[in-house]
Amino acid sequence: MRILFLADLHGNMTATLAMDRVIRSLAPDDIWFLGDCVGKGPRNDETCDYVRSVCRHWIGGNWDYGIGFREFPADAFFWDQLGEERLAWLRGLPQEDEIRAEGLRIRLFHGRPVTPLLTVEMNASQLIPLFSTDRGVFDGVIFADSHRPFVRTLSCGYLANTGSVGNSMGVPRAHALILETFPLSRALSLQVLSVPYDNEAEAALARATPDLPHGDAYIREVLTGIYSRGLSES
Ligand SMILES: [Fe+2]
Repeated sequence: MRILFLADLHGNMTATLAMDRVIRSLAPDDIWFLGDCVGKGPRNDETCDYVRSVCRHWIGGNWDYGIGFREFPADAFFWDQLGEERLAWLRGLPQEDEIRAEGLRIRLFHGRPVTPLLTVEMNASQLIPLFSTDRGVFDGVIFADSHRPFVRTLSCGYLANTGSVGNSMGVPRAHALILETFPLSRALSLQVLSVPYDNEAEAALARATPDLPHGDAYIREVLTGIYSRGLSES
């Protein structure tokens, strides 16, 4: 059984299509969306429609709710591109879910707004509380939001991040996470999937979208994997 988790597509359809070609070749049994299909990039209607058609389970992220609820006037470009039906879908996304895999109970959420931003550099004492909620104790946590994929082993279980399909930090490739289970041995495997895509083509698309909010930061991030919001965007 192969389960694929993807998140943070952020309107980058070039990266999404590169990831999609790999997904089709892997033919996973199940696909989860862990939040943030919209915001930042130029083709949000398409990345929103992609997760709705390809994924079988959905969890919302901070950008999905921020845009869905029209929270920030600066996001008007995204409201107009998405239209009311998609905005309503974004508003209705659940914030959390869980799966069981070979006896392990695994908590699933995006990150914000359920938690503060959680990063790969955080120490274990900041991360261990994620494994206990009012719904009980978990053996694993899979989340997204920080745009950097990783798999860590803490004293209470496994902690894994999907990375980002469309707005990767660190290494500017499209990322996702694969959980594979082997029922005969009750083993499981957690792997980071790293897919190259045409970053220059995506940057050119963003340049051709002059109304894209913070477009210069998005272009820099797609080309370099360096977070660029708040830097000079001249
Ligand atoms: Fe995100």
